[in-house]
Amino acid sequence: MRSKNISRQLLIGILAAALTACGGGQPQDSGPRTLKEAFGDYFLVGTAMNTRQVSGQDPEGAELVKAQFNAVVAENCMKCEAIHPEEDRYDFADADALVDFAEANGLTVTGHVLVWHSQMAPWFCVDDEGKLVSPEVLKQRMKDHITTILHHFKGRIKGWDVVNEAIIEDGSYRQSPLWQILGEEFVPLAFQYAHEADPDVELYYNDYGMNVPGRRNTVVRLIKTLQERGLRIDAVGMQGHMGMDYPRLEDFEASLEAFAATGVKVMITEWDMTALPTISSSANISDTVAFQQQLNPYPDGLPEDVDREWNKRMKAFFQLFLKHSDVITRVTAWGVSDGDSWRNSFPMDGRTDYALPFDRQHRMKPFLRELISPKVATFSPLIYSVEGDEATGENGAAGGEGSAGGGGDVTITGEPIANPLLPGCYPDPSICRVGDDYYLVNSTFAYFPGVPIWHSTDLRHWERLGFVLNRPSQLPLREGLPMRCGIYAPDIKYNPHNGLFYMITTDVYGRGTLFVTTDDPRKGVWSEPTYLPEVGGIDPSILFDTDGRAYIVNNDAPAGQPLYDGHRAIWLREFDWKTGRTVGEQRVIVNGGVDISQKPSWIEGPHLYHIGDTYYLMCAEGGTSINHSEVIFSASSPQGPFRPCKTNPILTQRDAPSDRTHPVTCTGHADLVQTPEGDWYAVFLAMRPYRDDHDVMGRETFIHPVQWVDGQPIILPQGEVLTYSTRAVADAPLWSAEGLSPEAFGIRSLTVCDDMIGADGSLSLPASSVGLSDGGRPSVLGRWVTDFNCSAQTAVTFSPSSTHDLAGLTVYQDDACHVAFGLSADEQGQPCIKLMAKSKGETKAEVTAPLAAGTAKPVYLKVEGVYTPTDGGHDMGYLFSYSLNPAKGWTAVGDPVSADLLSTRTAGNFTGTVVGVFATGCYSE
Ligand code: XIL
Repeated sequence: MRSKNISRQLLIGILAAALTACGGGQPQDSGPRTLKEAFGDYFLVGTAMNTRQVSGQDPEGAELVKAQFNAVVAENCMKCEAIHPEEDRYDFADADALVDFAEANGLTVTGHVLVWHSQMAPWFCVDDEGKLVSPEVLKQRMKDHITTILHHFKGRIKGWDVVNEAIIEDGSYRQSPLWQILGEEFVPLAFQYAHEADPDVELYYNDYGMNVPGRRNTVVRLIKTLQERGLRIDAVGMQGHMGMDYPRLEDFEASLEAFAATGVKVMITEWDMTALPTISSSANISDTVAFQQQLNPYPDGLPEDVDREWNKRMKAFFQLFLKHSDVITRVTAWGVSDGDSWRNSFPMDGRTDYALPFDRQHRMKPFLRELISPKVATFSPLIYSVEGDEATGENGAAGGEGSAGGGGDVTITGEPIANPLLPGCYPDPSICRVGDDYYLVNSTFAYFPGVPIWHSTDLRHWERLGFVLNRPSQLPLREGLPMRCGIYAPDIKYNPHNGLFYMITTDVYGRGTLFVTTDDPRKGVWSEPTYLPEVGGIDPSILFDTDGRAYIVNNDAPAGQPLYDGHRAIWLREFDWKTGRTVGEQRVIVNGGVDISQKPSWIEGPHLYHIGDTYYLMCAEGGTSINHSEVIFSASSPQGPFRPCKTNPILTQRDAPSDRTHPVTCTGHADLVQTPEGDWYAVFLAMRPYRDDHDVMGRETFIHPVQWVDGQPIILPQGEVLTYSTRAVADAPLWSAEGLSPEAFGIRSLTVCDDMIGADGSLSLPASSVGLSDGGRPSVLGRWVTDFNCSAQTAVTFSPSSTHDLAGLTVYQDDACHVAFGLSADEQGQPCIKLMAKSKGETKAEVTAPLAAGTAKPVYLKVEGVYTPTDGGHDMGYLFSYSLNPAKGWTAVGDPVSADLLSTRTAGNFTGTVVGVFATGCYSE
């Protein structure tokens, strides 16, 4: 982000909003209140003005322009039909008045528009008989028109829309009279005449529907043609007339990036978003009432849900503009307030629309208020703890006695190590060693940043290095992405032939298979992704072979029709690391699993190893739940044929006694590593259910020594039962004055950054209108729950004024299953404590407690895991309590919320439980 002189409060809002990297910003005492104060440093903020506003017939509208904007454009009065109604007559009166108004009020003027087929004076392309004129005549007319106007306004208008709307959706040129007479050449000619008339004025190409690939590609080609011919083009104007269901933000962004990549700037030139349904022909036109209701459904005001949705979408687009403020030089609303919008009469007359950033009463819409003056909740550092046997601090644990599981220790190079190796939702581990350094990665699904990476020199002590995919550009997780999608099973391997580490993974329902590289994982900076669209399915991993060749193996559908449910195959293709591309055809190396006649399900998570003279292919089989297992095949060539080794599975707990206490289940999805001394270990995922396959930690990373028997590895001899220990965590803060803990992450994005943390360690979290249930990017900072007996505590200062405002603690599995607990307001606007528990989208508990004291003081909030033995396992719940003075005790709010409501099994997810802070709500008045 560019360094700007903006207030801390605005900075917080914008940082949260723009999801950009942090940096810059000088705190000021009071926050900005207007658009130009807030965003003027980022780009020009403009509006289209009509003649009523300029001429004094709409004084309130004119005042709003003066107060809020720093740029204007003429909505109609500089168009050909208005400014040049007859060949030998120009009418500059209205346009001059607009420029005078702008100059008197310090507003930058953009000229709209020189050459456009629409609102063109009727004479422009035809002769006296109404026939199209010759190319020479049209050229001369265009030249005269452009030259006269540019000379008239010289020095007073910053730039012009030279040509408007020349290209249609399919990428061809619009067959307007201009095109019919001059072909595509009319566009470069217009740019040429404009530059000749005024070499100092900026020149733009402007169009609508710019998200559409066909138009995008032709516009890019047009810019390049102009550039190649030495013609001036400064920017592309993306009109930005939007609706509730178009364009997709991703498509709009792709076009924005494509235009910027040519080296020109981008302007959002005519921004509005109709809140009305897109017109369809389904209404029976003869039924006037139904027709009216369908086409003009909100004559008396927008319903709250539509209003919320509209604001959410507008905010997302404005965030996009902020994110790209290095290339966007202007954002212009197409009209001052809702009453002025052309959308009230387009595409049909007589509608009441709500398309602009200011409403009919000239009030700023909530999405801008949220960005400019967000309601902020201030949290003391969230302190996370787990009671256990060894207070060694997080993830630094070495040996020690186990407890809950009766001792989950295994021995590594002579020392005991407790399992799980990495407690909490750290599934699908992959590991590699280079010299004395081990690196391990896990999957992260729809959480951001993606792919935690750990470092160790002894396999026992693991230091968290951070995340591999820590920039939004590496992992753009879209809104609405289910939490069970996103990043699956990463693989980390080292290529000794070029000294680079590779992390390959699948962004499921996102961008598919991708890999990133670094020369040193400890630096924390990995490359931008290379996408491998030809690698389908999931769970790709790489073998860098000793001879310099490399292979990618992955799980995908079988070659023909699946023969049964869960029928999958392991595929192999060669990978050319010099070009970063795969080579040749892919081929199936395992079909179905160890024994296809037994209908093995979900062969997946493959890893290929070259050990001695043998290639081993190790895979998970049985699905990632209770039937999970690990199996192994061998071959004398990487291409196969791969045959199952003598003993399979080489790891499972599916046959373990069902009445065992403290079970470890779902073991599988392993990766092997060898120590410098030559010993082998496997890391794999496993679960610790509390009862009936209900769990809260999700799938965790375990470790076990590997034995070699008859030339094959065995991770756990058949019949052996795994146990676990409880890893104590002593007061781990999720952030401190020094910054965020490496444990911290967000939902689909990280809306928090170090700049939001004060010198005293307090975190200022802007309340977002995006709630925890909305499937969006809420204002949340969380971490994984790592054990049953955990607790988390913070103190929040917040000024709730409506029932929508809520800031506090969340225990979160996904959009449909979570608990929100904190400070809110009741219907009368009085502060209260609120607890809301949702499971599968339904409200299961809602408790409010009045808060006698004011909200100026912090309210302490706490959540504690309640883990109690019962028949057939344990009950697990979360108890929420608050206090105004912890020295005097805590008040519990409701009963403990059953963890069954949130468990992976209930939610149908692959992840564990998040505990964190969040803030929802609107803006400060
Ligand atoms: C619209 C004006 O807002 C209306 O007042 C007028 O009746 C029609 O034109 N693309 C453009 C703008 O480039 O000039 C158009 O403005 C909207 C579509």
